[in-house]
Amino acid sequence: MSQHILTICYLIGSITFIIGLKMLSNPASARKGNLIAAAGMSIAILGTIFLFTYDENGTVHHLGNYIWIFAALLIGSIIGTLSAKKVQMTAMPEMVSLFNGMGGACAALISIVEFNHLSKSLGASPTTEMIHHAQPTTLIIVLGLIIGSVSFAGSMIAWGKLNGKVKDFSFTGQNILNIIVLASALATAVYLIFNPQQHSLLYVILGLSVFYGVFFVMPIGGADMPVVISLLNSFTGVAAACGGFLYDNKVMLTGGILVGAAGTLLTILMCKAMNRSLKNVLIGSFGANAKSTSAAGIQGDHKEISLSDAAMVMSYANKVLIVPGYGLAVAQAQHTCHELEKILTDKGVEVKYAIHPVAGRMPGHMNVLLAEADVSYDILLEMEQANDEFATTDVVLILGANDVVNPAAKSDPASPIYGMPILDVQLAKTVIVNKRSMKPGYAGIENELFFKPKTSMLFGDAKKVLQDLCAEIKNA
Ligand code: TAP
Repeated sequence: MSQHILTICYLIGSITFIIGLKMLSNPASARKGNLIAAAGMSIAILGTIFLFTYDENGTVHHLGNYIWIFAALLIGSIIGTLSAKKVQMTAMPEMVSLFNGMGGACAALISIVEFNHLSKSLGASPTTEMIHHAQPTTLIIVLGLIIGSVSFAGSMIAWGKLNGKVKDFSFTGQNILNIIVLASALATAVYLIFNPQQHSLLYVILGLSVFYGVFFVMPIGGADMPVVISLLNSFTGVAAACGGFLYDNKVMLTGGILVGAAGTLLTILMCKAMNRSLKNVLIGSFGANAKSTSAAGIQGDHKEISLSDAAMVMSYANKVLIVPGYGLAVAQAQHTCHELEKILTDKGVEVKYAIHPVAGRMPGHMNVLLAEADVSYDILLEMEQANDEFATTDVVLILGANDVVNPAAKSDPASPIYGMPILDVQLAKTVIVNKRSMKPGYAGIENELFFKPKTSMLFGDAKKVLQDLCAEIKNA
């Protein structure tokens, strides 16, 4: 009976994962979706702890070890809750990377533990029949180990790069060395599948996989880490699915497959939105190439606008579109931005936000940032909608965005961002750009928009500028 209830728990878990994932696709339902999936996961975990039984020599056993299990759950929950509450929006990719690494490490540990069980049951000199019987399990174990440990090691390096502790590192022939290391890990894995009694080889595979994970991520530019993390996330999903096969656990299998598929789709979508191939991200060294082609033919001067003039132009506009970018997140100016939006709305100005899919440094970065400041979802326009509205907009206020409004993506085939869809801010009557200097953004290239006659630069940290704009418009 308890096994049937457990199966229902797993079914509930799997269904809630799918519903949760669907709800995550819309900012308005994302929080609820997360809670629903977490509730399903809790049901599956508690069901396993209390209802799972196994048969040993004709006696039915429960999991036991309750103190260990709940102590680990408690410690993990405390650490997870505190770090999630403490984390700054700009450090979110770091945290995702760290959590993803833990998932990969868990999958690798499961493989090590289960291989030890298998080795014990095989003994020192197993029969051919025993080896044949153990081969499918060994295959799943080594797959989980390789994928999980690559994901763990890669995520740790990605985490180090994002918080500035690990620098980019590459040497001539590194890609070839990486291929040799990966091929050696796979060859050893194949040998172990046919000779599962050689259990020490498992640690050779572990070492080679960790080495590969480190050296695979090391040369990739720090700014490309979100794409790498998304890719590693899909690896962790596949490694977890291997655990599902190993334990014949349906919810682990469904969860793993969903994470694997979601991570892969996200990686593809991010590459598409940046108009780059995955190969280019992994071995292309984007920023470095881009800098050498930067500022190729941009001539002329930029013009500046004073704070009071900017305040006046916006106060008398009918419609203002705000374009948030990475700089807004860096300045943590989302609350002040919302305040400016309210002040302008109170003055009768129609204010909306134009959201580019890869503005910022992680998927949905601007949506999450603005949601944190309680900006209404109704006034967030996706890129296509915004592009339809620019022509009827009086003022576009660009806050710490650069690449996502760079016209070179449309007009300059030599530009590294050529082909990337952009926000057509130039269609508006006036463009005001807030950033701290004329320095380039992520792609490392100059932006001709800043030199156009319609564009005025409003220099300064986004938070300070927005605070001053709010004060100026209030007092006007
Ligand atoms: P960027 O092109 O990176 O430009 C951000 C601008 O913000 C910089 O030019 C910087 O200029 C300014 N800035 C920095 N701190 C500021 C502050 N405190 N106050 C005001 N301005 C500040 O950003 P974007 O337009 O959002 O484009 C995102 C880029 O990241 C794209 O190239 C995209 O392909 C890439 N990318 C995105 C993702 C995802 S999924 N979102 C993942 C990986 C890469 P100053 O230094 O002069 O202030």
